Amino acid sequence: MVTDVVILAAGQGTRMRSDKPKVLHAIAGKPMVQHVLDQAQQLENCRIHLVVGHGGDRVREALKGQDINFVVQHEQLGTGHAVAQTLPDLNVDSKVLILYGDVPLAPFSLFSTLIEQVSGSAMSLMTVHLDNPTGYGRIVRNHDDQVTAIVEQKDANAEQLAISEINTGIMAVSQRHLADWLPKLSSDNAQGEYYLTDVIAMASESGIAIQTVQPEHEQQVQGVNNRQQQAELERWYQGQLAEQLMVDGASLADPSRIDIRGNLTVGRDCFIDVNTIFEGDVTLADGVEIGPNCVVKNSNLGAGTKVEANSVIDGAQIAENCAIGPFARIRPASELKAGAKVGNFVETKKSVIGAGAKINHLTYIGDADIGAKVNVGAGTITCNYDGVNKFKTVIGDGAFIGSNSSLVAPVTIGVNAVVGAGSTISKDVEANALAVGRGKQVIKTGWKK
Ligand code: UD1
Ligand code: CA
Repeated sequence: MVTDVVILAAGQGTRMRSDKPKVLHAIAGKPMVQHVLDQAQQLENCRIHLVVGHGGDRVREALKGQDINFVVQHEQLGTGHAVAQTLPDLNVDSKVLILYGDVPLAPFSLFSTLIEQVSGSAMSLMTVHLDNPTGYGRIVRNHDDQVTAIVEQKDANAEQLAISEINTGIMAVSQRHLADWLPKLSSDNAQGEYYLTDVIAMASESGIAIQTVQPEHEQQVQGVNNRQQQAELERWYQGQLAEQLMVDGASLADPSRIDIRGNLTVGRDCFIDVNTIFEGDVTLADGVEIGPNCVVKNSNLGAGTKVEANSVIDGAQIAENCAIGPFARIRPASELKAGAKVGNFVETKKSVIGAGAKINHLTYIGDADIGAKVNVGAGTITCNYDGVNKFKTVIGDGAFIGSNSSLVAPVTIGVNAVVGAGSTISKDVEANALAVGRGKQVIKTGWKK
């Protein structure tokens, strides 16, 4: 049977004090609503309906290309009103899972548990006990411990305010029941809104069993209403990711000083020093070591590779036993073959660096194909750009480029050729040749200023 997933994301998020719709604010580099979508999309045979309103066009734009039915709630009249907007689009007799775009970290496993409990005579609700329940809707139970209602903070009496079990907002219910109850909601309450939470009392009165499910961690169901809560969830989530890395066999110098904004996969015995940021998809093979203060993005690093402090690696394929940094910048489409070394203040872009090649200091390598065991001296520049087009530099295996050389592309340096220090090379150099391209040194003796 189809599951209709309804995600509420029409609210303004006033307390974020932001021009950006709240659900587009990120946790771990990913918009909160995308976290919710990624989990929901793991459900089999589901259709996703996203209720948008405030900043709806920006939300749509940010999520374009995904299989989502956007439903517009023109006026934000409450959570019940928001879900009611999706009624015409829901499948008859489906199970409906209701999620909030600003509750980003609930895992898919909890969703399946909720959905399994829905039937013609039962619905389910995710609740949690909080030390400080202020602000949340409270779960009211009768003498038999059955849920009978949810009372919002602003409508609660003193006795109800003392209840520590709260509504997370996440629930699963049959379409048939929603279609029956939602049109009967009233806005006669402290906030003048159509509360979704009022369907609980209706369910209870109709003899529908209300099952409750609790998350493993309260952070999994915490909502983000302001930037403090966003930062708290970010830290908690990063802690969970760090924990997993250690389970997977990586050592972290300090699990509280690593940031993963994407998917990081590690082999055995990796070591990650403090303050490194991983973005996008990154794979570290066995024994990779990352020094402090690095940024590694969308790259694969081969076994035994070492990256020293303050290096930035983006969009690169790095083979095994390479040495990078400190202070190296490896830009997109760089490929380092086994044992290559790229040292301090070296920038590479769209280039292949051959096995065992060394580029140790102060160099720019762009649009280049560098062979095995090449030595590139300090201060070498591949002059790849003439102001209009980019050109390629090819350096054959075993060549030696003297320090402070400019290689004006397109140009080819042959296998085992040598370029003298300080040369400007604009013509091809054949294999095994020596090329020197610089002014002769002039000496005038007894020179006076
Ligand atoms: C809601 C619940 C409360 C629960 C809390 C959990 C109701 C009435 N209250 O309160 O019981 O403890 O969540 O976090 O449901 N939204 C719309 N359209 C609207 C109003 C809201 O799409 O007209 C969306 C918001 O964008 C947000 C979600 O619904 O994603 C929750 O709305 P919010 O105003 O934050 O509800 P709370 O007051 O937090
Ligand atoms: Ca909220």
